[in-house]
Amino acid sequence: GALEQELARLVASAKEGETEGARREMSGFRNLFSRFLRAKTHIEWKAIQPLPEGAIRPYKQLPPVSESHITQMLSKLVVVKLNGGLGTSMGCKGPKSVIAVRNDLTFLDLTMQQIQQLNRTYNVDVPLVLMNSFNTDDDTQKLLKKYANVKVSVISFCQSRYPRINKETLMPIAKDMGTADMEAWYPPGHGNFYEAFANSGLLDKFLEQGKEYCFLSNIDNMGATVDLNILNFVLNSSGGQEPPEFVMEVTDKTRADVKGGTLIQYEDKLMLLEIAQVPKDYVDEFKSISKFRIFNTNNLWASLGAIRRVVSNNELDMEVIVNPKHLDRGMDVIQLETAAGAAIKNFKNSCGINVPRSRFLPVKKTSDLLLLMSNLYDIDNGSLTLSSERSFPTTPLVKLGSSFDKVKDYLARFQGIPDLIELDHLTVSGDVWFGRDVSLKGTVIIIANHGDRIDVAPGTILENKIVSGNLRI
Ligand code: UTP
Repeated sequence: GALEQELARLVASAKEGETEGARREMSGFRNLFSRFLRAKTHIEWKAIQPLPEGAIRPYKQLPPVSESHITQMLSKLVVVKLNGGLGTSMGCKGPKSVIAVRNDLTFLDLTMQQIQQLNRTYNVDVPLVLMNSFNTDDDTQKLLKKYANVKVSVISFCQSRYPRINKETLMPIAKDMGTADMEAWYPPGHGNFYEAFANSGLLDKFLEQGKEYCFLSNIDNMGATVDLNILNFVLNSSGGQEPPEFVMEVTDKTRADVKGGTLIQYEDKLMLLEIAQVPKDYVDEFKSISKFRIFNTNNLWASLGAIRRVVSNNELDMEVIVNPKHLDRGMDVIQLETAAGAAIKNFKNSCGINVPRSRFLPVKKTSDLLLLMSNLYDIDNGSLTLSSERSFPTTPLVKLGSSFDKVKDYLARFQGIPDLIELDHLTVSGDVWFGRDVSLKGTVIIIANHGDRIDVAPGTILENKIVSGNLRI
C-alpha cells in the first residue's frame, strides 16, 4: 500500500529518459523488500543435512587441462570484478580499487596487469567487466582513462541503486530520484550482480558472442586470478556428469576466519550459510573450525546461460541481509542487501572447490595491506606470490592498533615497509612510528601506552622483542 505509493512517486520523479531504468530498479527493490518481509531470519539448525559426496571437491583432484584446449576455453570466459564498494573500513572515501598496493599500482592496475598477461600468454581477448555502483563509477572511469590505449577490453556497468528505508516506518527516506541526497541511497550488495548484469544488456551481449561462463571475484582479492584448472572443470565436466552451473571456491578455515560464510546442505540443496542466519545458540558451533572446515572466498564461477534463465524466471531467492546504518543526520535506517554466493542454491549441479589459501588474498584492513606491500610477496605481472625466501608457507599474524586504521595514517607511520620475511607475529598499539629499513623477526610486540610515543629508528632489527613505554629504539 503505502510503500507502493512511495515507490511510484519516486519513479515519477525520475528525469526524462530515466523513467524506465527507475521503474526497473524500484521493481527490483520491491522484490527484495517483499522477500525481507516474508523470509525467516534464521535457518533451522537441526535441518542441516550432511554434505553429499562430491559437494566440495579438493582442488588437487580436478582433471588435468590439455594445453591444446586452453585458447578455446578462454574464449568462453568473462572476468568480472566486484567494484561497487567503498574503502570506508580503511578510511577511504572513494572506491577501494584506487588504493595503491605495490609501487603505486592500485588494485585496478594489478587486475589489469593480470588480464593483460593472461591475454598475451594465450593470445586471447578475455574481457574484464567491472561492476561499479553509483558510489564508485566516476572515480573508476577516471582511473580507466589511462588504459584507453591498452588492448584489454574493459567494460563497466553500474549495479542498482536502492532506497534506504527508515527503520521505524520502513518507508524510503529519499524525496526523489535525484542524487543530491547521497545518504538516501545504497548499492544493495554483490548479490545484485545477476540482475544488474542482465539489466545492463551485457549478459545477452556476451551470450551472443559465444561466452559461456563468468568468473566473479572481489576486486580486493589479489589471489583471484583466472585459474585454468577450474575453468576446465566448469566447461568440460567429466564422467558423463552434467556441468556445474555454479562453482564456489572455498578454502580451509583458520581461527582468524571464523566469521566467513560456509557451505551446507539444506532443503536438499547446497546453500551458503552466513553467520547472520545462524540461530544465536549455535553461533559458537558455526565458528568452530572442526565442524565447519571451509569458508567462501567469494571467487565464483557461473554459467551465463544459467544466469539468464534464473533471472528471467525470477528464480533467485538469495537470503536478505539487513544492514542497519546510523546516518549523520541522526536517523536510523536499514538497507537490504544480498551476497552473490547465496545464489548457489538456485543453480543446478552447483559445487564447491576447496582451493589453496593463495587464492584468497583480500585487503580488508591496513594490516593486510602491510603484508602485501612488504617483501613477503613477489609481484609478477600483477600476480602476487609468497616469497620463496620465506621458510614456511604461512603468513604472519599482524595486528595494528587503531592509530593505523586509516590508509593515510598507516602510510604516514611507516617511512618504509619493514622487512617481514622472518616475521611470525606482530602486534603494534598506540602512537608508534617506523623508520626506513626496519626488520621485524619472530614475535614482535610494540606497545606505546597512552600519552607515550615510540619511534623505531631507521635500520633497527627487532627479533622476538617486546617494546613498551616511551622509547626511541
Ligand atoms: P563486501 O563489502 O561484501 O566485503 O565487498 P568487504 O570487502 O569485506 O567489505 P568491507 O571492507 O568490510 O566494507 C566485497 C566486494 O564486493 C564489492 C566490493 O567492492 C568488494 O570488491 N561490492 C560490495 C559491490 O560490488 N557492491 C556492493 O554493493 C557491495
